[in-house]
This record gives sequence, structure tokens and C-alpha cells, in this order.
Amino acid sequence: MPGLTAPSDYSREPPRHPSLLINAKEPFNAEPPRSALVASYVTPSDFFYKRNHGPIPIVQDIDKYSVFVSGLVDRPKQLFMKDIWMLPKYNVTATLQCAGNRRTAMSKTRTVKGVGWDVSAIGNAVWGGAKLSDVLELVGIPKLTGVTQSGGRHVEFVSVDKCKEENGGPYKASIPLSQATNPEADVLLAYEMNGEPLNRDHGYPLRVVVPGVIGARSVKWLENINIIAEECQGFFMQRDYKMFPPSVNWDNINWSTRRPQMDFPVQCVICSLEDVSTIKPGKVKISGYAASGGGRGIERVDVSVDGGKTWMEASRFQKSGVPYISEDASSDKWAWVLFEVTADILHSTEIIAKAVDSAANVQPEKVEDIWNLRGILNTSWHRVKVQATHSNL
Ligand code: MTE
Repeated sequence: MPGLTAPSDYSREPPRHPSLLINAKEPFNAEPPRSALVASYVTPSDFFYKRNHGPIPIVQDIDKYSVFVSGLVDRPKQLFMKDIWMLPKYNVTATLQCAGNRRTAMSKTRTVKGVGWDVSAIGNAVWGGAKLSDVLELVGIPKLTGVTQSGGRHVEFVSVDKCKEENGGPYKASIPLSQATNPEADVLLAYEMNGEPLNRDHGYPLRVVVPGVIGARSVKWLENINIIAEECQGFFMQRDYKMFPPSVNWDNINWSTRRPQMDFPVQCVICSLEDVSTIKPGKVKISGYAASGGGRGIERVDVSVDGGKTWMEASRFQKSGVPYISEDASSDKWAWVLFEVTADILHSTEIIAKAVDSAANVQPEKVEDIWNLRGILNTSWHRVKVQATHSNL
């Protein structure tokens, strides 16, 4: 019996937390209520968003489960879990964000194609596993290699799940070999999430985690690693998860004109309030998350309680008792920061948050300016409305 199999229907899905908001049932796509994200710096696995393109694979026998590493390498190898467990183990705190986070809000401007998400297709976890750079050394690729002797420049990750976009084939994606072999990029083959074995929804028994990059490249239920000359030609690399300008529509789209999206841009969201909330006039706590891709830290979070006329700076933190300093060795470089500010709000108003990352990138003001037909990377200023009520409700 093989180690990992992919069901063709949804009769054997894992149990899930009842408070998740379900955006699609089959395949299962769900996110936690936004308040759950600011309840803790590390997102509990139960509340971590689940983004799937097919039925969840099943491990028949963990001892038989293996990953084949092959392609443009001298020494292809079959690795069992015991081989992966033998490599040095790293714990990397990294935020995973789906490129479709905040798609629902973008679709209110103009229709987009894709599963709708509110603001919680993001989570921050401690991923435990082996570094991909160590795994690739086992097949003879030294650290910091950009191209192998036989011309390999990309590392492709292939799963087993049956995706309709791939005509029933598996989910796959690739990253550049230079990133895969760079120990500082912290790309993991992870077998743990928050100190526990990965659960089935998040890729048990082994998944890729590519910190700082859109979640689509962090392939779950890994079965093959191929060293290839050109980037992966799979659907999710070539015909999805690419950023187009607002002028491109389904009649004039030419997928080959754009690169697959990799790093995610600077993002921040208010999680302590819904799109429209009722408040009692007085002090209101405004909290949320901010994150940027590529390992860039969060330099600042600006909050306005008068619709953008004036701004104040929120405080940022990761771990309690440790001041967060962007780009400092004491900070988790791949992880989000939570922010918080308390403001006096006496009247109904619009509250806005926007973040600035360590490269001084700022979020765009208007969603219209970044609208794209697939509804990805909505990083426009986050706005919520509060209605001040003087009643004793
Ligand atoms: N890997 C496989 N095999 N199948 C998938 O459907 N979805 C991708 C990625 N890896 C996917 C996958 C996408 S789009 C995202 S955003 C992340 O997994 C979501 O990971 P999570 O469900 O653990 O949050």
C-alpha cells in the first residue's frame, strides 16, 4: 500500500472547528472570524485558514511514505520520514497568506473570479521541519547554488491531491533554486505546525513552507521534488496567481505576459472591528495584523479615526515583553506583527489602517487602482465603519 493517497471525493475529510467561516465546502476553504487572529501572535492550527483545491489526501502507512528528489541532479534520492527527521530541525515562525485574502472586498468594485475571502486568509504559525537547503545537499546540490551542472534552476514541488484546475492532476508549484539552496531563506519541509505534527488540512505528513511568499507556493502533501530548468508549468504557476493591471479582462488576457506572483506585498487589517460595528462613544481599542513579504519588517502602522484626514501611529508587537524592532535580530523576520491603538471616538466615522514596511513600501489607497480579474493581492487601505450609539444597548 502506498504511503499517501488522494481520494477522488469528499467523503473522508478531517474534522474542523465549528467556528470557521466556510467560503467553499468542496474543496474545503474556510477562515476564522477576524477576532481570532488578534487573540494570539501564533494562530492555533484549528483557527488557521484552510485553502484547498481538492479532497484532502490520506496517509495509509507513514513508514511507506516517501518524497522522491530527482530531475537535473547527479544523485536522485527517495527520502522517507526517518531521513527527514534525521536532518537538523528548525522552528521558523512564519506568516502564510493566501494571495486571495480580502478578495470579497475587491469583488465589490467589479466582479472577480475566485473563492471569496474576508480578511482572515492569513495566519502565523511556528513551522518545524528540515531546511530544504539541507535536503538538497543530500542529492548533491551545495548551499547557495543558482544552477546545477546539468542546468537545473528551479525546484518544483508536486503533491498528490486531485485538482480540477489540473484536470484531476496534482497541485504543484516551483521556486528558484537560488532561494531553495539559501539557508537564510528558511524554506522548510515542515512536519510540525505549532509543536504538533501537521494536521491533514495543513499538509500531513510533509509540506513546503516558503516564508515571505504567497501561500500558493507552499505545497502541502509533498510527494515529489523535481530539479528543473524552467519554472513549473502547472496551472497555479502559469494560469493563476499572477497580478494583472485593471485593464486586463477575460477577453484580452495573455497569461504568458506576467510572472507568477512570489513575495506578497505589505498588508494590514483591523481585526477588532467588523466592516460595520456599533460602538459606545468613548475609548475604542483598534487592533489588527500587519505583514510584508520577502522578510521585510513592519516599520509603521498608521491609523485614522476621521476617514483619513489625520493619522496616529499604532504600537506594534510580536512577543510580549520584547519590543518589536523591524529588521532587528530579536524579531521574527517572516512573521506578522500585531498592532494596537486606543482612540476616543465620539461620533460615527470611518476607521482606516495602513502599514509601511522596512523598504518604505506603503499600501495603495484605493482598491479600484489595484483591481485585477482574479481578485488577488487586495492590500488597499483597510476601512471599517463604526456607528456611535448613545443608547444603552
Ligand atoms: N498544496 C496542495 N497540495 N494543494 C492545495 O490546494 N493550496 C495552496 C497551498 N498549498 C494548496 C497547496 C494555497 S493557494 C495556499 S494559500 C496554501 O496552501 C494554504 O495553506 P493552508 O491550507 O495550510 O493554510
